[in-house]
Amino acid sequence: MEDNSLPKTFYVTTPIYYVNDVPHIGHAYTTIAADSLARYRQLAGYDCFFLTGTDEHGQKVEKAARDGGQTPIELADRVVERFKALWARLDISYDDFIRTTQKRHIEAVTALYQRVWERGDIYLGDYEDWYCTPCETFWTQTQLAEGNKCPNCGRPTEKLKEKSYFFRMSKYRDALLRYLEDNPDFIQPSSRYNEILSFVKGELKDLSISRTTFRWGVPVPNDPGHVIYVWFDALTNYITAVGYPGDQERFQQYWPAKCHIIGKDILRFHAVYWPTFLMSAGLPLPRKIFAHGWWTVEGQKMSKSLGNVVDPYQLVDEYGVDPIRYFLLREVPFGADGDFSRSALIQRINGDLANDLGNLVSRILAMVKKYCKGFVPPPQGGSGGGEFLRAQVKETFTELGLSMDQLAFHRALGAIWDLVGTLNKYLDETSPWSLAKEEGRKAELEGILYNSLEVLRVLAIFLFPFVPATAQRMWEMLGLPGKVGEQRIEEVSMWGGFPEGLQITKPTPLFPRIEM
Ligand code: ME8
Ligand code: MG
Repeated sequence: MEDNSLPKTFYVTTPIYYVNDVPHIGHAYTTIAADSLARYRQLAGYDCFFLTGTDEHGQKVEKAARDGGQTPIELADRVVERFKALWARLDISYDDFIRTTQKRHIEAVTALYQRVWERGDIYLGDYEDWYCTPCETFWTQTQLAEGNKCPNCGRPTEKLKEKSYFFRMSKYRDALLRYLEDNPDFIQPSSRYNEILSFVKGELKDLSISRTTFRWGVPVPNDPGHVIYVWFDALTNYITAVGYPGDQERFQQYWPAKCHIIGKDILRFHAVYWPTFLMSAGLPLPRKIFAHGWWTVEGQKMSKSLGNVVDPYQLVDEYGVDPIRYFLLREVPFGADGDFSRSALIQRINGDLANDLGNLVSRILAMVKKYCKGFVPPPQGGSGGGEFLRAQVKETFTELGLSMDQLAFHRALGAIWDLVGTLNKYLDETSPWSLAKEEGRKAELEGILYNSLEVLRVLAIFLFPFVPATAQRMWEMLGLPGKVGEQRIEEVSMWGGFPEGLQITKPTPLFPRIEM
């Protein structure tokens, strides 16, 4: 029987990033999205577990280390610090950071492999095909781009022949197809679902899951001349971190994950390989895989050779953390491709953040200072005409919930900014600064300011998942006690939660305007 006294769990993951490269804006994007989802679930009272980490094995990392005159683990140790420092800078609230070189993970990979082996789903065979080392992927002749180039990255591939252990993926084709058909929400957005569905409707070949041409990986149990294929290794991280195989209690608590957030580049690994590994091992499948789109930069593909890779550190130094978080989540519907441009970023900062939200907050707080000596006035019941504000707060709360269920961050933020817009309009229409000049209209004035503060309180909570530092600053400027992140979001739909008589603190601008 389900124990209702325990909070519902919400387990969300990012991909684990390769350590052969330093973090860029694409990595930041996925991780910020996952962070916002985790923070939202936290506010909604879930027992949330948010995992990120690094993918440290494989030929690609081994080669990058060699090229740099280091051992793979030296390279990994160094790059891991870069990722961790970036996540700290971007206010990423992960609960665990997994590294595939950790003992707990090597144990989990070995156990999963063993389990699949015991199911009779692994056999030794010969593998020969075209291999792209940067993508860690074998391609068939027909899949190759012109000149035997990799269809994914366009670089040259090489013909490789080796003894290899194979996973009987073909055996799970029908089961996976049925699962997909029964669970149309398993993969999102729906265009990605359709892509995978038609892929699985074709032939599902057995998958080579071991390599003998390099050493940097988890050895195949009982045949240590082979290392386990990096994707079998990497995907397992999602169960390692919740206690597989040793900690059954913890595993039961969090697995299956509610959502794997990934980029569209790695969809097939997550939506085909991973589910079939899990089916073979007799483990439940993740509830949802969400593949977001790809960022280009000023209209061009981001690449080292073009020298246009966007460094998130530099952006944050220039514009601040929350403007970057906001821009990435607001500018492009999650799931679609997007283009990163300075002008679009500056427009969002000056328009949405500095003008709409920042000015609204300063305007209201300045009036509370001026007309109420900085003290939160009492609510005025019917007067002040705030009924529609109250109604819109409710609607926003509902829309936020629906949008976040679908990872529609842009829609969630759109709804929040509608509320910002309504409050701006409310002030323009009720014009409290004129009331202040008239005799006998103090109650009305106070009612308007109370309503406005009340909406700001709610806004701080709504904003927290996306721009946590800004939300906390708003909370403090409003004179509210504690941490905004410790509030429960359902409670905000109850209008009138602003404690009376609190003193607001000196308002400081939330977002400086950027000169073009
Ligand atoms: O693939 N736009 O790691 P990786 C948006 N280790 N997102 C982007 C992006 C862009 N231009 N570039 C990268 C791996 N990303 C494997 C994953 S998981 C078990 C193993 C993001 O370092 C996006 O999330 O190449 C993409 O899926 C991920 O970085 C790939 O990171
Ligand atoms: Mg990649």
